[in-house]
Order: sequence, then structure tokens, then C-alpha cells
Amino acid sequence: MENLGTIDALTQWRESAGNSKVGFVPTMGALHEGHLTLIRQSVRENDHTVVSIFVNPTQFNDPKDCSGYPTSLEADLAACREEGVSAVFLPQYGMMYPDDFTYRVSELEISSVLEGEMRPGHFDGVLTVVLKLLILVQAGRAYFGEKDWQQYKLVAGLAKAFFVSTEIIPVPTIREPDGLAMSSRNTRLSKEARMLAPEFYRVLCSAVDCAMARAELEALGFEVEYVDERDGRRLGAVQLDGVRLIDNIGIGNQS
Ligand code: PAJ
Repeated sequence: MENLGTIDALTQWRESAGNSKVGFVPTMGALHEGHLTLIRQSVRENDHTVVSIFVNPTQFNDPKDCSGYPTSLEADLAACREEGVSAVFLPQYGMMYPDDFTYRVSELEISSVLEGEMRPGHFDGVLTVVLKLLILVQAGRAYFGEKDWQQYKLVAGLAKAFFVSTEIIPVPTIREPDGLAMSSRNTRLSKEARMLAPEFYRVLCSAVDCAMARAELEALGFEVEYVDERDGRRLGAVQLDGVRLIDNIGIGNQS
């Protein structure tokens, strides 16, 4: 496995991969089974898999959330090697943003609702970094988790809008045995909050409508940011003990 620390190194690696099938999994590190599922699917479906690990500052509306984002680089690299990843791209801010984010990609419809409403500017940062990464990696396929449903939809629309030929592949949400969607942020939950957290998914699945889901979650002690239905999905964001959790299910299939 190659560790690629510069854009030049990535470009050279990509040239050497030539016409072989390249799959790409963009991440912010602190890898867990959710990320590893995306990586395994890419390794199965392509000749080479590139994983990027970059905690992208432009998508954090709260700078404290960015500086406190969990990191586990050594373990991440070991996991990637174990899964058969060919190359890990590890850029620094200055390499990804030679313009210091004066150029950016904005989507004007769905990026201002749900996650976008709660986290102003978040999707500008996501779409900008994802477009840069897709241009650099030149993959045949890129893998995105349905856990971040709105992100997946926006990235699929981004690729279409900018004629990016990489196919955007959605991967179903991976959950803990108790139903909690896996997330790097789960490690920040206190013991009590971790015990309550799976109720978020349970209520999303069982409530008859969004208003009932909100009321049930609030009664359990969650601070509810939104519960809404769009796109045949029920989506929610809550805070528990200061930790923000998001989740969504397909209405009728619960995954
Ligand atoms: P990150 O939160 O590290 O997630 C990387 C990818 O893993 C995303 O596509 C996300 O949806 C997926 N993922 C995370 N948890 C998952 C789970 N439990 N089940 C399935 N997939 C899961 O999302 C980002 O990073 C960033 O916004 C990024 C796209 C890398 C741009 O900076």
C-alpha cells in the first residue's frame, strides 16, 4: 500500500494505475466498520482502491467540532492495508485549498434544508472538497454511505452537474448490533448517552409520523434538531449530551 502525501504523488500513482479499474472512498479518518464496508465493496468491485483521509475544515461550521474531530491515523492505515487498499491519499489543507477556499461549489436547492439548515455552509465545504478529490483521483467509481443521505444525493447531483464521469455508488448504513448507526462521533458519547442512543433509530423506525417521532425522542431526553420525510426517507438529527447524531431510514424498509 502506498501512502501518498502530496498531489504530485497521487497524480503519479494514478498514471501508473493506467486503465485499470480504480475505486475511491473519501473519508475523514477515524475509520470504523461503516467506512470499512465501503472500502471492502470498492476492493471487491475494482482493481485498485484509493482511500483519502482528510479532516476537511471547510465543512465544519463549528471550528471546535473540527479541532476536536477524532483521529487514529496509525490504526486507519493498518486497517486500509489489511483490507487490500492500494493507496491512501493524505493531503494537507494548503494542498487541497491553494485558493484558501475563495472558490467553492454551492448547490442552491437541497443544501439549505435539514443538515444544511442546521449547519450553514456545511455542504459548500463538502461539495467543494469532493469535487477536488474526484478530479484528482479520476476513479471509475466512488462510494458514499447512505448514513449521510443528503450528502450522497448532493454528491450524485454534483457529479452529474459537472460532467464527472465517476459513478457515485450508495452503500447502506452499517449499524451497531443495537441499531445505532456507526459514526466516528459515537466515541464521544458518555456511557449513559451511549445506552440511550439506539432509541434514536428505534423511534425513527416505529413512530407513526414525524411529529410523533419528535415528541417521543424529546420525552426520552434527546434534543431534536429535525425529523422530516423526503425522497421516500425519514431523516433525523438529534443531540445527546452535546453529541450530534444523524440517521435516516427508507420508509417501508428501515435500512
Ligand atoms: P466521513 O464522515 O469520514 O465518512 C466517510 C464515508 O463513510 C461517507 O460516505 C459516509 O457516509 C460513510 N459512512 C460513515 N458512517 C457510515 C455508516 N455507519 N454506514 C455506512 N457508511 C458510513 O462523510 C465524510 O466523511 C465527508 O463529508 C467526506 C465525504 C469525506 C468529505 O469530506
